[in-house]
Amino acid sequence: MLHPGLSETEPSGATVLAITSGKGGVGKTNIAANLAICLAGLHQRVVLMDADLGLGNLDVVLNIQSRHHLAHVISGHRELEQIIHIGPLGVEVICGGSGIEMLANMNTFQRQRLLDGLDALHRRADFLIIDTGAGIQSNVVSFCLASDQTLVVTTPEPTAMTDAYAMIKVLAANGYAGRISIVVNMAHSVSEGRLIYRQIADVAGRFLNCPVYEGGLLCRDEAVPNAVRKRMPVVLGSPKSPFALSLNEIGMRLTRGKCQKCQRGGFFRKVVHWFF
Ligand SMILES: Nc1ncnc2c1ncn2[C@@H]1O[C@H](COP(=O)(O)OP(=O)(O)OP(=O)(O)O)[C@@H](O)[C@H]1O
Ligand SMILES: [Mg+2]
Repeated sequence: MLHPGLSETEPSGATVLAITSGKGGVGKTNIAANLAICLAGLHQRVVLMDADLGLGNLDVVLNIQSRHHLAHVISGHRELEQIIHIGPLGVEVICGGSGIEMLANMNTFQRQRLLDGLDALHRRADFLIIDTGAGIQSNVVSFCLASDQTLVVTTPEPTAMTDAYAMIKVLAANGYAGRISIVVNMAHSVSEGRLIYRQIADVAGRFLNCPVYEGGLLCRDEAVPNAVRKRMPVVLGSPKSPFALSLNEIGMRLTRGKCQKCQRGGFFRKVVHWFF
């Protein structure tokens, strides 16, 4: 079923998933990269964007060379098509670098041209996955506010949980129209993961009146750091590991719910709108 705001005939573009967290180091990049591969394995066209303006490292997890990013397009040294890296299973990877911030310095014509190119990328994919930086600063929040779904990643650590809640609070305060889901990563057991999800969802429901869905539970699994060391995405190097199996389930669930697009229009234009 389409969202009431979307017509049957209008090409609605990719479902945009922002993968974010309040606290750093909770597993966003590994989840984003491997989820993108899972979705590609399910015959989805996937664009993956590294939107961590500080220390993005999708290239390390995917073992791709990313010498050029959006800033090089903005400075005129590269065309957008030239900075798209083809990753595993055809996932198209684009590194944002500090590019989005630089959009402010472009003249209107240049900016329109670039946004047209980015929106074309968005339209031709089934999923656009954004790996954001951590924290509630405006660049991270802008990507989330413009997305259809935000997966807020937390671990069982109390600080990660508190920061995840802070992120949900900021999204709610800005009237976020998309769907917020919690992904609990590095849980020691399924029951611990579920408890953490419930605790955050209960508080968000009670104090923010904001529904928060269960995005998935991923257990602590040595296969993940081992895969990073080998520079081989874990879903390809250890497809039977608990982390890979759970992530595949999340991917399957997302493809089933794909039509739940909440927002219409150009994603990148919305990011710019929220950014400035
Ligand atoms: N389920 C897991 N089990 C064990 N280790 C994990 C798991 N998920 C992630 N890690 C490890 O945690 C570390 C941080 O992961 P990652 O870089 O994906 O986090 P991040 O949230 O993207 O960090 P940042 O906020 O710095 O961008 C990595 O060393 C990774 O191998
Ligand atoms: Mg990261």
